[in-house]
Amino acid sequence: MRAPIILLLAVQASGQALISSDTAFYGESPAVYPSPNATGVGDWEDAYAKAVDFVAQLTLAEKVALTGGVSSGNGCAGRIPAINGTDFPGLCLSDGPAGIRGTNLVSSWPAGNAVGASWNRNLTKLRGVGMAKEFKAKGAQVALGPVVGPLGRIANGGRNWEGFSNDPYLAGALGADSVEGIQSVGVTASTKHFIANEQEHYRNPSGNVAAVSANIDDKTMHELYLWPFQDAVKAGTGSIMCSYNRLNNSYGCANSLTQNGLLKTELGFQGFVVSDWGAQHSGVASALAGLDMAMPSGSSFWGNNLIAAVNNGSVPESRIDDMAIRILSTWYKFSQDTDFPAPGIGMPSRVSGPYQRIIGTSPDSKEVLLQGAIEGHVLVKNTNGALPLKSPQLISLYGYSARTFDRYAWGTPGWNNGEEARSTADTSTTQIASNGTLFTGGGSGGNMPAYLSSPYEALSQRAYDDGTHLWWDFQYNSQNSQVDQGSDACIVIGNAYAAEGADRPGLHDDFTDNLILNIANQCNNTIVVFHNAGVRLVDQFIDHPNVTALIFAHLPGQDAGRALVSLLYGDTSPSGKLPYSVPHNESDYGALKNESLPVGIYANFPQSDFSEGVYIDYRAFDQQDITPRYEFGFGLSYTTFGFSGLAASVAAGANTDAYPIQPIVEGGRQDLWDVVAQVSADVANTGSVQGAEVVQLYVGIPNGPIRQLRGFEKVLLSPGESGHVTFDLTRRDLSTWDTEKQEWLLQEGEYQVYIGSSSRDLPLSSTLTI
Ligand code: NOJ
Repeated sequence: MRAPIILLLAVQASGQALISSDTAFYGESPAVYPSPNATGVGDWEDAYAKAVDFVAQLTLAEKVALTGGVSSGNGCAGRIPAINGTDFPGLCLSDGPAGIRGTNLVSSWPAGNAVGASWNRNLTKLRGVGMAKEFKAKGAQVALGPVVGPLGRIANGGRNWEGFSNDPYLAGALGADSVEGIQSVGVTASTKHFIANEQEHYRNPSGNVAAVSANIDDKTMHELYLWPFQDAVKAGTGSIMCSYNRLNNSYGCANSLTQNGLLKTELGFQGFVVSDWGAQHSGVASALAGLDMAMPSGSSFWGNNLIAAVNNGSVPESRIDDMAIRILSTWYKFSQDTDFPAPGIGMPSRVSGPYQRIIGTSPDSKEVLLQGAIEGHVLVKNTNGALPLKSPQLISLYGYSARTFDRYAWGTPGWNNGEEARSTADTSTTQIASNGTLFTGGGSGGNMPAYLSSPYEALSQRAYDDGTHLWWDFQYNSQNSQVDQGSDACIVIGNAYAAEGADRPGLHDDFTDNLILNIANQCNNTIVVFHNAGVRLVDQFIDHPNVTALIFAHLPGQDAGRALVSLLYGDTSPSGKLPYSVPHNESDYGALKNESLPVGIYANFPQSDFSEGVYIDYRAFDQQDITPRYEFGFGLSYTTFGFSGLAASVAAGANTDAYPIQPIVEGGRQDLWDVVAQVSADVANTGSVQGAEVVQLYVGIPNGPIRQLRGFEKVLLSPGESGHVTFDLTRRDLSTWDTEKQEWLLQEGEYQVYIGSSSRDLPLSSTLTI
């Protein structure tokens, strides 16, 4: 076995305590016991006190019953039973991150990658509010989202689209906003998947092959993968879902370092850890390592076995008390004891009762659904004044993602997620969903829309309103389609499919590239749109002189078509920015394109060494001087913006001592959040239409990557209008993780500071000395 060899080398090379050696983290997960009890810090105080009182009245069997799922039959992904003779009615946990799944009368919200592309914190929070109202109406106390892991290390990753961005700062900010929005309605957010579930292949054990082990060093863990989870904990996430994969060879839900150490000690997490479905592989070990709730079944490893483990002294009863207190204090904290529909009351389909209404079509939610879809679109090419369209007389529309597919049965009560967009002819080797508009991805991250506005339907409506002539051709072999030479514009809409359970077979497909080239060869104003569940490469067609515009629409949810039409016609100016880079070639990713597979002597214990450290996406492209096709943070508008007046200074009275000195609160050491420096700048709309710019702040921390995102703000400006933006830089923003001290270390010296409209268009720069 490999782990002991690495361990030995680490000791020989450094002679230092293993916990403080980076090398020790490769392949060996240090033990951290016992599991810390919740303490009721901060605004958990009241809920914690109530939970302690409640749990004191319960028998061991009743406490254990709280820790494991029972089969539900009501459409909840997981269910905790009621405790007879008490007020506790049980819990309903439901997927997922883009809206409640497996039920009707709800909405399909823009998926994670569209939210990431919006770079809009307020809108993200409102989305959380809107979707949580739907969870609540259906009696689901726990929403299984948001996703901040996978972060998106692997370009082919099958679930990258469920999360916001492969930048930890952006993912963390939008994750925190989602948690706040969801929980403001009284629904518990379960932020997932903790941690390093960066590939789908071998995420689970199969036969005698164990799940893949993500081998991560301590510094990378803190500066990249743990970062957004820290933001979610700081925002008060009531639950964290532990992941399928192994982390340094120890299963995610039985990993004492990540759960007892990182989450419950270092970050001061007060809520409960729930296993991903079937991610529990041990009884005593997972209990001692900090798992609090097993899903979907408590009886596989816990249940009576956990009672026996307490009775024979293998697990202290105080650990069971802590599990129960964490679960019940979350239930109290969000007032689910006083103000919540019965668990699963509206699941799986509508029943009569006071809570049944179509929330998704309420005026507030309608606005957020549409605006979220609009801002999730990123315009990356726009030449010859192609967009916005100018009173076109004839538009020709092509591509399989332009029209709504049939709702054929995927089980009662009908369609459930983006898998329906797949054609029965598509196999796991095709990369597209050829049946129709890909408004969401496949698996537990997808859900059922209240309706679907496809591009074809929305363009038809617009044609009716404007008196435009719309021609369409969606035949599957439209690689041979003809173009009416009277067309003012030809719009080609394709997609890039991804679903839970598999990584993507590639980042572009010849079928769609040829479809685009065929139209471009005949039409000198060819506008390309992708509904893309991840990075989609474009070099095969993008330099064709007739390809005048390109939009990455991401996965916009049920208002896909309406949003696109608003942008195409210039009712709204595009304001989305790429939350990842689009390189020229697959090879630009090096080892980070494909997932790790079982090989050689580790065939039964697949290993994925995260040896690139923090250098993924733009951090890697900057480091290796690789010019991407479209850089991280890039996106065009119908107007132009100018930047000026950069000021950067250490904040008045800031403590610039090397290490934090404060106690641990929810989210970590208290003074990690102190403002150490401030950066401000002006942005002006220098064009002729209203538009929003995302002002982006990048910082080059001494001894770190060339630059890292450390602030962003979206500013809506009328022509000629200016805005002043101020960014607070916290201690954590300006620190690196010190593996010796196990603390964030504020660097001494000169920091580079950049402001601009993307990670490579940074007209303002300065330095900051600490
Ligand atoms: C497995 C997925 O990984 C997770 O995200 C989801 O919440 C559960 N299944 C429950 O459906």
